[in-house]
Amino acid sequence: MTVLVTGGAGYIGSHVVRLLQNRGEQVVVIDNLSNGIQERIGDAKLVEIDLAAEASVQTLKDTIKTHNVSAVIHFAARKQVGESVERPEWYYQQNVGGLANLLTAMRETDVNRLVFSSSAATYGMPDVPAVDEDILCQPINPYGETKLIGEWMVANAARAWGLRGANLRYFNVAGAGWPELADTAVANLVPIVFAAIRADQSPKVFGTDYATADGTCVRDYVHVLDLAEAHLSALSYLDRDERPHATFNVGTGTGSSVFEVLEQVRKTTGINFEADLQPRRAGDPPFLAADVSRIKTTLGWSASRGLDEIIESAWAAIS
Ligand SMILES: NC(=O)c1ccc[n+]([C@@H]2O[C@H](COP(=O)([O-])OP(=O)(O)OC[C@H]3O[C@@H](n4cnc5c(N)ncnc54)[C@H](O)[C@@H]3O)[C@@H](O)[C@H]2O)c1
Repeated sequence: MTVLVTGGAGYIGSHVVRLLQNRGEQVVVIDNLSNGIQERIGDAKLVEIDLAAEASVQTLKDTIKTHNVSAVIHFAARKQVGESVERPEWYYQQNVGGLANLLTAMRETDVNRLVFSSSAATYGMPDVPAVDEDILCQPINPYGETKLIGEWMVANAARAWGLRGANLRYFNVAGAGWPELADTAVANLVPIVFAAIRADQSPKVFGTDYATADGTCVRDYVHVLDLAEAHLSALSYLDRDERPHATFNVGTGTGSSVFEVLEQVRKTTGINFEADLQPRRAGDPPFLAADVSRIKTTLGWSASRGLDEIIESAWAAIS
C-alpha cells in the first residue's frame, strides 16, 4: 500500500512524509515545487505537476495505478491570505480546481480515503474563546473560502461515491520536527519575529487594546510534529466503519498572546528586543483558539508539545 501526498515537499507535508517513511510506508509525492523543496522528501518518489492543470487528472490516475495508492493526504494549495485577496480567481483555480482534479482521479481509480488540509481560516471572526467545529463558518477572505469549499467537496464526494474524508482544520502551525524541514516562509508570527530580530529590528505588534489578558491577540499555536501525527491518526480513522465526524480542529486548546510569544522568543534566543507597538489591523479576531474535545475523543489525538518547544525547534532550525 502507498500513500499519495500532494504538497509533500512543503513545510507541513514533508513532516508527514517523514513520519510515514519512518514507519515503513511507501510514499509518492505530487508537488509542483512552487513553494516546496525536493530535498525535504528524501528518497520518496516525486511527481512534479501542477495539480490545478487539467492534464493532472490523467497523471494522477497513472500515478495512483503505478504505485498502488490506497490513500491520499492533500496539502497542495496556496496559503497566503493577502495574496488570496489580491488574486481571488487564481486562488479558486489553485485550491478548488486542484482538489476537483484530485477527487476526479480518486473516483476514477476507486481510491476512497482522503485527509484534507483545512484551516481555522474557515471560521472567520468567531466571537467565542474556544471555537468548536459546529459553529457557523464565515470565512472573511478568499483563502478561507477555498478551504470551506474544499470541505463541502469532500462531503459531496462522500455522498456521491462513498469517499471517506477527514478535514483537519489547522490552527497556527509553527516549529520544526527536523531542522531541514522548517518553515522557510516568513508569513506567520514566529518566522516574522525571528526575521525582525535577526535584522536587528523590533517586531511589530498590531493592537494592544484588545479585551484579552494583556491586550494583544491570542492564537492557538500547534507544533508541526504534533500536527503531522494528527494526520496519521486521521488516516487510521478512515479505516473505521463508524465515523461520526468528518471535520476536526487541530490545535492545543490553549491560546498564547502575541506578548507571550515574544517573551518566549526572548527566553529562547537570549535576545532582549523591544516590540514595535502598532494600532490594530483590520480582520484580526482578538481570540482564536481551538476547542479540541472532538479530535481527542474521536481520533484519540492531542498535542503533546508546548509553545516553548515550538519556539526552540523553530529557532534551532535557523541558527
Ligand atoms: N502553515 C499553516 O499555518 C497552515 C494553517 C492552516 C492550513 N494550512 C494548509 O496546510 C497545507 C500545507 O501548508 P504548508 O504550510 O505546508 O504550505 P507550503 O506552501 O509549505 O506547502 C504546500 C506545498 O504544495 C505545493 N503546491 C502548491 N500548489 C500546488 C499545485 N497547484 N500543484 C502541485 N503542488 C502545489 C507547494 O509547492 C508546496 O510544496 C496547505 O493546504 C495550507 O493551506 C497551513
